[in-house]
Amino acid sequence: MYYCTLVCSFIALAMILALANSFLGNARDPDILKDFLIPTGLDPSNITSQFFTYTGFRELVNVNTTGKTAAIETKASMKEFPALEGQAVSIAALTYPPSGINPPHVHPRAAELLIVLQGVLEVGFVDSTNKLFKQTLQVPDMFIFPKGLVHFQVNTRSDSPAYALGMFGSANAGTVSLPNTVFASGISAEILAKAFKTDLETISKLIAANNITKAA
Ligand SMILES: *[C@@H]1O[C@H](CO)[C@@H](O)[C@H](O)[C@H]1NC(C)=O
Ligand SMILES: *[C@@H]1O[C@H](CO)[C@@H](O)[C@H](O)[C@H]1NC(C)=O
Ligand SMILES: *[C@@H]1O[C@H](CO)[C@@H](O)[C@H](O)[C@H]1NC(C)=O
Repeated sequence: MYYCTLVCSFIALAMILALANSFLGNARDPDILKDFLIPTGLDPSNITSQFFTYTGFRELVNVNTTGKTAAIETKASMKEFPALEGQAVSIAALTYPPSGINPPHVHPRAAELLIVLQGVLEVGFVDSTNKLFKQTLQVPDMFIFPKGLVHFQVNTRSDSPAYALGMFGSANAGTVSLPNTVFASGISAEILAKAFKTDLETISKLIAANNITKAA
């Protein structure tokens, strides 16, 4: 309930901030020559307020973190919310289990503003000179992860979940997860062993541990 109230009160602020982010920052989503884009197959006369409404976050009250170690991300990008196409904004709700992490990852097409809704998060990103910028955030602090840089979040509390919203200056920011990209993409163990200066056995363990098919 607490989460829902917070989401409701922050959502307007969140969208304004995401908009500001896309206007002031280096927005790269293409400009459109219409008020909004209508997905192919949908009759323009059938576009109503419903098309501009996203209700998927209602499901957040049912997110179950029991037994999970990684954050659960509920996205509202243009795939889930087609009205966002051409508007250069999107948002994701993050639910962190106790001590849960959002593993190091990159959004190739947008900067991300993260706002903490409940709990205490340790966050960080690494710039292109390999310098780490770390911070501990409490409600309702915000942090910006610059576009395309590796970043992560950790729930610092072991006895309670944490919640945050990530806001993007793209309708389709994309996510490249480092563990998956490196160990679950089919890059050969030989290449990885050389790249990480280790042996095949260690790499095989990492590949097995990061098997997305198995985890699903
Ligand atoms: C438009 O809405 C009408 C009435 O709901 C429906 O019968 C029709 O299939 C819709 N057309 C398209 C192209 O979605
Ligand atoms: C949450 O998930 C755990 C582990 O999968 C399960 O045992 C439990 O019944 C679930 N709780 C609810 C309320 O669905
Ligand atoms: C990943 O898990 C699936 C299902 O258990 C298995 O079929 C597949 O061989 C595994 N892949 C690797 C690279 O271990």
